Amino acid sequence: SVIKSYLIEPDGGVLVDVIVPESERGSKTLEAESLHKVRLAKIDVEWVHVISEGWASPLKGFMRENEYLQSLHFNSLRMENGTVVNMSLPVVLAIDDETKKNIGSSKDVGLVGPDGDLLAILRSIEIYKHNKEERIARTWGTTAPGLPYVEEFITPAGNWLIGGDLEVLKTIKYNDGLDHYRLSPQQLREEFDRRQADAVFAFQLRNPVHNGHALLMNDTRRRLLEMGYKNPILLLHPLGGFTKVDDVPLDVRMEQHSKVLEDGVLDPETTIVSIFPSPMHYAGPTEVQWHAKARINAGANFYIVGRDPAGMGHPIEKRDLYDPDHGKKVLSMAPGLEKLNILPFRVAAYDTMAKKMAFFDPSRSKDFLFISGTKMRTFARTGENPPDGFMCPGGWEVLVKYYERLQAE
Ligand code: ADX
Repeated sequence: SVIKSYLIEPDGGVLVDVIVPESERGSKTLEAESLHKVRLAKIDVEWVHVISEGWASPLKGFMRENEYLQSLHFNSLRMENGTVVNMSLPVVLAIDDETKKNIGSSKDVGLVGPDGDLLAILRSIEIYKHNKEERIARTWGTTAPGLPYVEEFITPAGNWLIGGDLEVLKTIKYNDGLDHYRLSPQQLREEFDRRQADAVFAFQLRNPVHNGHALLMNDTRRRLLEMGYKNPILLLHPLGGFTKVDDVPLDVRMEQHSKVLEDGVLDPETTIVSIFPSPMHYAGPTEVQWHAKARINAGANFYIVGRDPAGMGHPIEKRDLYDPDHGKKVLSMAPGLEKLNILPFRVAAYDTMAKKMAFFDPSRSKDFLFISGTKMRTFARTGENPPDGFMCPGGWEVLVKYYERLQAE
């Protein structure tokens, strides 16, 4: 039986899938073994995963210089047919001088994981300079010391970038007990179609779900029903790649998210929880474009955005790194994202009068309590409960246990 699909088209028209079919795996693996090798870091494997399943569609591999420059200067890519798609983060692979020398004038290279396993072939390669300062300044808008992604992965990286088309020998797995949550864009599309979703609204997050987040999601559902959609489905889509040390780790967040559904804060009947495999940059308005664009590929046509998406505190000054309103403003104007319906939200905070999370009302600002990540950690660490209605009890318990374990270490 043919089921009708209501889903938005993948970005650029076709969902990229560069995972080698089973039937060709043997021969391609043999070929890969004969090639010069590039050793990947953990972060590179995350990007191989992202590209291989088509999250970055129409991007088919690590960026060559022309793609890198477009991404860095225009936050977008122009396809051969003239279509402009959004691509705000450079998806690049760095190599050092010695690796470059070994590769010489080879056309293709083999990509080897951190454990030595052969993961992929990179075809028709191009090697070009990695000007780290320029990449950092343009991606983050600052070169201040203390940017997590920069310090972990860019500063120590090589002085060259290698681009090319990717052929991935098999699906990337992490064997951390969470792989069943890692649905590819294709799998998500199949699931949305199976449920006959006539709208899909995505919620990107890297933090535990509190009732303020839930307010955004539940309010969106209400609005979509009002607009006439019959079966809107929520994609609750926690980011699963690299996050900074003081963020709550993925396994704990997944447990917390389960409780939020169990406790009925979100409706399990109309929600799909899945992991978004991208690493986090903390590049604010630049990065939120990537977060939104990738969800188009998974079938989302609505995207929720609130306060300071993909933001963090300035690493050396006492302020947010980005204007907390710029993420939603930029997203609503971003080139290549016209087809995505952006749902911008005001900041939610704890309303001490209503005793629940509510949209902040500046006319009675003194009634509102802002519970930051730091404050949450302090509550959990000192065994103090957050105010009633901040987070469901089951979800809060998961966090308390996590911080207890942290303290014991
Ligand atoms: S993010 O890095 O994934 O953006 P986070 O998990 O904190 O961080 O946020 C997920 C989404 O919820 C983002 O769209 C963010 O703007 C929004 N958000 C987070 N906290 C609030 C809040 N208090 N009020 C409104 N929106 C919020």
